[in-house]
Amino acid sequence: MSGAKVRIGLIGGGGMGRGHLNTFKKIEEGEIVGVADPSPQSRERVVKDFNLPVFASAAELIEATGPAGCVIASPHPVHLANALDCFKRGVHVFTEKPMTSKISEADAMIAAARKAKLMLAVMFQMRGNIATRRAKEILDAGTLGEIRRVNMIHVGLRTNAYYRICPWRGRWQSEGGGVLVNQSPHTLDRVVYLTGMPATVLARTMTFGHPIETEDQAEAMLLYPNGATGYLFMSTAEAPAMNRLEISCDRGRLVIDDDNNKLLLGKLPGSCREFLATNPEEWGSLKGEWSEVDLTPRPGEETGHIVCLRDFCRAIRDNRAPMVTGEDGKRSLELANAITYSSFAGAEVKFPLGRKAYDELYAFGVANGEGSSLTKLIPLWRKSQAKPAKASKASKAAKPARKAARKAGKRK
Ligand SMILES: NC(=O)c1ccc[n+]([C@@H]2O[C@H](COP(=O)([O-])OP(=O)(O)OC[C@H]3O[C@@H](n4cnc5c(N)ncnc54)[C@H](O)[C@@H]3O)[C@@H](O)[C@H]2O)c1
Repeated sequence: MSGAKVRIGLIGGGGMGRGHLNTFKKIEEGEIVGVADPSPQSRERVVKDFNLPVFASAAELIEATGPAGCVIASPHPVHLANALDCFKRGVHVFTEKPMTSKISEADAMIAAARKAKLMLAVMFQMRGNIATRRAKEILDAGTLGEIRRVNMIHVGLRTNAYYRICPWRGRWQSEGGGVLVNQSPHTLDRVVYLTGMPATVLARTMTFGHPIETEDQAEAMLLYPNGATGYLFMSTAEAPAMNRLEISCDRGRLVIDDDNNKLLLGKLPGSCREFLATNPEEWGSLKGEWSEVDLTPRPGEETGHIVCLRDFCRAIRDNRAPMVTGEDGKRSLELANAITYSSFAGAEVKFPLGRKAYDELYAFGVANGEGSSLTKLIPLWRKSQAKPAKASKASKAAKPARKAARKAGKRK
């Protein structure tokens, strides 16, 4: 392709969409040629602030402007329909996180891209953070040895007004989840990106402090295939804010402290496992040497949304895979959905998460969750899983949920 800018359509001109319109002003490789949004108010604001052609649907946008790719920044439950509209018309897709609200739809999006031989890219801009980049380099170099433990805390307060002003948030019908699919996908993605997928998850979610239907707090215990363990905590109902990831390995530890923009590296003189086995002293100790990793960006390193958006334009121009593919981007969604499923079932869930089982739980949320909270919905769902004749004895109360969790781990 010549030096011409890659023509990009934007689907969804709300808060994030307008952010992307501003970012595109700094991207030499691409340009936004039009915006699709069913809301007349959103379209009016786009025309006023950006003077771009606007359309009521993705189909109209594509037919009128012929973009090479589209950026999807609509609410997540409509990402799949928007993506299918693009693939049907031969247009590459870059979707905001999360790809969709449920894993079966992410599978469908990936399959549609593959069938159409088109690109599917996902927004996970936290991968461009300098601390994330350096942590990845250190882990990939292998000097810290095998991962033993992971600890992630992501706390980002959201007021009731936040949910009231954008009423699609925190509802089963219009969002399909809470903190797990809206505020924490980036931090979940970073866990999976740096440490891989766990083998199982045991979780608890709750509607803790907001008048919403879905989870504003989630915590999960992970077990990795190598026996390493993990603990994740996510909340929009706690303060002060905290974003921290610890990865403990056999030969040292990494601590990403986003609030203070620090990456700490603790190096052991050798393997902890070997030391445990061979040190003869009763009180032998293994001390780490701590240092702060330099987080000065290297020449050409960018951070923020521009990393992924520029990459999308370049990937189209150069006919290569994007920085975060659909396959890669769906892993943290599968973890998020499994945390929800485990919490409902009150039992450990194995990966891969059963698609049919999760679709059924999601449909239950949509059908029964309106105006409710997880405090009421989870017991209601458990009751729905119980076989009427066998559920009478208190000692058997947890059985149907455990059975459901096994089903979720098996059924695809
Ligand atoms: N990467 C990030 O840092 C980041 C930050 C915020 C939001 N997001 C993601 O961006 C997406 C949008 O979030 P937001 O905060 O901008 O929401 P928003 O409510 O501010 O904007 C959504 C826009 O999409 C429009 N829309 C609704 N249905 C549509 C459809 N079928 N087709 C096209 N447009 C449609 C709405 O009218 C609205 O203008 C979400 O998936 C969210 O998770 C990502």
